[in-house]
Amino acid sequence: MNYTKRFDQIVAKIKEHQEMWNGEIITLYPDRLDIFNQEWVKELSLLTDEQLWQVDCFQNTEFLNEGSFKTWLNELNELCELPKYEYGELEKLPDFAFNKVKGKKRHEILVLAKLLKQVQAENDFSHLVDIGGGVGHLSRVMAHYKSIECISLDINKDFQTIGEKRLHKYTKPEDHKNVTFITHDFTYDLKEEQTRDIFTDKSFSLGLHTCGPLALKHIDVATVNKTLGFINFGCCYNKLNPQTDCNISQYSKNHGLTLTDYAFTLACRGHSSMDYNAFKLKRRVKDFRYAIHIFFYKYFGIKEVVAVGDSEPREYWGKFSDYLIGKCEKLGMKNEYSAQFIDDFFEDAKMQEYLKELFLCNVIRWQYGRSLELYLLIDRCLYLQERGFSPLLLEFFDPSLSPRNIGILLTRHS
Ligand SMILES: C[S@@+](CC[C@H](N)C(=O)[O-])C[C@H]1O[C@@H](n2cnc3c(N)ncnc32)[C@H](O)[C@@H]1O
Repeated sequence: MNYTKRFDQIVAKIKEHQEMWNGEIITLYPDRLDIFNQEWVKELSLLTDEQLWQVDCFQNTEFLNEGSFKTWLNELNELCELPKYEYGELEKLPDFAFNKVKGKKRHEILVLAKLLKQVQAENDFSHLVDIGGGVGHLSRVMAHYKSIECISLDINKDFQTIGEKRLHKYTKPEDHKNVTFITHDFTYDLKEEQTRDIFTDKSFSLGLHTCGPLALKHIDVATVNKTLGFINFGCCYNKLNPQTDCNISQYSKNHGLTLTDYAFTLACRGHSSMDYNAFKLKRRVKDFRYAIHIFFYKYFGIKEVVAVGDSEPREYWGKFSDYLIGKCEKLGMKNEYSAQFIDDFFEDAKMQEYLKELFLCNVIRWQYGRSLELYLLIDRCLYLQERGFSPLLLEFFDPSLSPRNIGILLTRHS
């Protein structure tokens, strides 16, 4: 894949609507919502809820009319297409190997097991370093069933204690290898001698869903120490620092765009497929979130966005007044409006119509998620290329099982 070309194409495509994805619907309220194409909003308003769910969560354009919205969305989807790692049939392991491991994680581990054996056949690495390895399911399976010596590094000692116990719970195959746990905050360098011992030129490292800047640290440590290679899957882009963790390549610095925290949060949604009930809940959450902002704006005179925090799903299906009054209490805000007044405000037909319109704007904005994620990942590939490496950006997992499935693979033979 030509990363520079794809990067330029993505930039050209998303640049014109920068304000849309760099802001949030409520930050654009009330004056800037006209940046959303009204024709597109109208077209979405004619869809059934199920069809809207299909557009929102699966970029499905089959219910859209031939016209500018459909063309725009199809073009955006095309830009987000990536080559896939063809893993073929996956091996079956004894059931106890995956006891208490969820289906998504099982799938990821089995795909990576296949990949790592292929990498090992070509690169013969001595051990695998699992960055942010958590309880160490992946390392355990690789060591016990794939005979790969593993080091699982994580900041969380509690996870690792569970993982250590688990190592001894079931019988291991005769040719098994070991897992060593290291508790460490990888934001900081390991001791020099530890780095030397772990990130050797015979080691291969893996970061599966490395949160925010942890992915960048992984990439740097693996390359600076001239290891045999790595595979990295990013996640939690909202934890990135817009000043230091984005546009890390010189090319992006010169030709890229400025991304805000809101854009990073949107990038996290890039691959999230959700079922219809989850979609309905999302809509209800948005309605409450937008309505509380408008209420604060109108009746409390608060113009900036107040971080009200998440609530339990059942609270969103309750009365809006309970939600608002509860938030005010939590935030120490004085509320003099009655529950009846607050509920009338929310249930007013015009307000409901307006909330629907805001949600439809959000559906349009949401479509940028995947392209923003790709923007960040291609930037990382460009950064590696500028240092003389040849990274591969591929979709590794079945998206219906593991939607956050894009990895950067680097091997001496990649
Ligand atoms: C999203 S989880 C992924 C866990 C595992 N790799 C998986 O895919 O199931 C991220 C992991 O990274 C660990 N982590 C987060 N920040 C870290 C840091 N600065 N240093 C080391 N580990 C960290 C967390 O404790 C957590 O186990």
